[in-house]
Amino acid sequence: MAESTLQRLKSDWERFLHEPLPKPLWRFVLERYGVDIRSNYAGFPVPLLVGKASGQLSMEPHQVRMDGQAGLGFCVLKTVIAQDAQGNCSMKAWALPVTKMKVERIRGQDGTEGWTVTWVGRGWHKSFAAYLKFFEKALAIGAEHDMLVIPSIKAHLPASMDEEWRIGEYDFTVGELLKVWRTYYPDKPMPLEFDFSPTLAGSDRAKQQETIRHWLVNVPKLVRQAAEKATALPSKQAIRIGIKVFNALFDDAFQLEMLLTLLTEAAKGDGADFIVYANRLFDPNREFEGVKGVAYGGPDLSARNLRVLSQLANLRWQGLLPTWLPISGTGNVCNGSIAFRYLSCGCTTLQIHTFFQLPLSCYAKRTGSRIERALHQLLFDPEDGLLVWLLMAKERLGVEPLTVDALTQHDWNSIIGQRR
Ligand SMILES: Cc1cc2nc3c(=O)[nH]c(=O)nc-3n(C[C@H](O)[C@H](O)[C@H](O)COP(=O)(O)O)c2cc1C
Repeated sequence: MAESTLQRLKSDWERFLHEPLPKPLWRFVLERYGVDIRSNYAGFPVPLLVGKASGQLSMEPHQVRMDGQAGLGFCVLKTVIAQDAQGNCSMKAWALPVTKMKVERIRGQDGTEGWTVTWVGRGWHKSFAAYLKFFEKALAIGAEHDMLVIPSIKAHLPASMDEEWRIGEYDFTVGELLKVWRTYYPDKPMPLEFDFSPTLAGSDRAKQQETIRHWLVNVPKLVRQAAEKATALPSKQAIRIGIKVFNALFDDAFQLEMLLTLLTEAAKGDGADFIVYANRLFDPNREFEGVKGVAYGGPDLSARNLRVLSQLANLRWQGLLPTWLPISGTGNVCNGSIAFRYLSCGCTTLQIHTFFQLPLSCYAKRTGSRIERALHQLLFDPEDGLLVWLLMAKERLGVEPLTVDALTQHDWNSIIGQRR
């Protein structure tokens, strides 16, 4: 990278250690570096390719406000467990309150040090009515800050091929969320993430590959039908369905098969509209607070996700996929090289949980919210921030400005190798 550009980056890094990040961030970066860090999530434009992943950090309006103030592109709300109109909820076991949450160091199989959050909670544990109120408040905050707000659900998943789907859970939950969304955005489809959480991996429900395939094929259809029933519109006008893929307890080939199943169904016209890849790993033998089996993240999570996503990207480059869908990457996004790899595998956005939750001493920036400190580090770090990587890509490609889309048209493995 040109010395003058590197100097500019170093001076911005230093400056924003103490000053707030500029607003809007994308304009500053575009004008100063010729790099466009806007992108799209599920086909919707977002002002920053980084957003917050669903979880404990998106359960309260003040958390959503902090995201908007820091300039995140989007915020995915905590997963609510679906219920039918009578309040029946087949996945109730996933609505545990959090008892204890621990942010701790974890070492990856290759020796890399990272962080993971260990806890025993699962989905939203307050009432569904409370979730709807929260969703409404979050939409208002999102609108104030030009930040896309996305609800997340988990609904009935049959444990075997013979079990009937509880369609009432899909219809009621999607319908109620759409009522709230449409008071804000009557003409815009509602983005929705469907959470296949890592804790499913350890449950009896996910023991069979055939059952998991059955879910991936049918969940988008059921959500689509629910949206049509609720709005009397063609589903594509009412909703954009994202499947948040989980890391099952099978091998990488099965992970790839899950993605291929989603793409094949999408090509037929009634599958998912976008993919979130991929929720945390699951260790069935580890114990925490008396519960056996815990989800974890850190270096092994990003290594596995990137291994699978790069195989998918290779198939894409060879023209071997039935179609392509927008992908939002999640899993140990904590520095520029990991973020850049997700983008170069075809992800258009990145969603973060753990890196927004570290002890304050882990961020170089000494002022502002955790979200702002993390963004400063992720983008501006002159050693391994995302801008270093994007500027290098811009130089290689000779394009001005560099966009996220341009990244996927090149095989970056060689330069990633060189810089490491
Ligand atoms: C404490 C905690 C709670 C989470 N809760 C949810 C959830 O309710 N729904 C969901 O889809 N993902 C949930 N996740 C997964 C995150 O959204 C994210 O995809 C995953 O942690 C990987 O990103 P990270 O490495 O940045 O944490 C949770 C993660 C953590 C650590």
